[in-house]
Amino acid sequence: MDMTPQRWINTNAYLREVFGKQDAVLEGLMPAAAQAGIPSITVSADVGRLLNILVQMATTRPGATGRVVELGTLAGYSGIWLARGLPPGGRLITVEPEAKHADFSQRMFAAAGVAERVEVRRTTGIAALEQIGREVGPGGVDVVFFDAIKTEYPEYFRLARPLIGRGGLLIADNVLGSSFWIDDPVGSSETRDAVDRFNRIVAADQDFDTVAVAAREGVMVARRK
Ligand SMILES: C[S@@+](CC[C@H](N)C(=O)[O-])C[C@H]1O[C@@H](n2cnc3c(N)ncnc32)[C@H](O)[C@@H]1O
Repeated sequence: MDMTPQRWINTNAYLREVFGKQDAVLEGLMPAAAQAGIPSITVSADVGRLLNILVQMATTRPGATGRVVELGTLAGYSGIWLARGLPPGGRLITVEPEAKHADFSQRMFAAAGVAERVEVRRTTGIAALEQIGREVGPGGVDVVFFDAIKTEYPEYFRLARPLIGRGGLLIADNVLGSSFWIDDPVGSSETRDAVDRFNRIVAADQDFDTVAVAAREGVMVARRK
């Protein structure tokens, strides 16, 4: 079966229709964020559900810490999906340097009823990973989700890698596209090349089983062996 541009659009619409059911808080979140001048660059609802299921699995495995880290909070949309996957006592640390985004997301976490299990850290992804590494040590995190600066993904991986425990997950959004698409020529953009380098580094890492799902703009899932 050949893929066409129209079939790709239809497929993504189908995925959202069938697998992207969401409650009123999530449904209303991005329209409200847009009114507040926050860009609509969230994961889709079907990808949100994927995040939720993966968090449920990783945080209930033997030896889990119940700790999840997200880089790139924006308005809190993906963070709510992640937080709702946590077990009792679990915690999401979500990282956002833009005050406007961080303020808005905290209101949304409260509206979604997950505020008590979410900490919004107002700093950069790199600074946060360095700090969390000092706080929790090796294997102290069940899931790390990358959705911040795409050119920094290789550095995020270097810093996050020791924090992910056995059976824990690295998840990364936009591993096939965002401002670029992965089949653009090598050298056509710094972002394409950094994401391509990141994909190949993780795929070649013998300590991880890694796949990328072609949902929306591509989601990597890598499980530490
Ligand atoms: C694509 S959005 C995140 C979308 C969100 N994960 C969702 O799906 O609902 C990227 C976010 O990363 C934030 N950001 C920008 N620079 C950053 C940095 N150096 N470290 C962490 N986050 C950063 C942006 O302000 C923006 O809110």
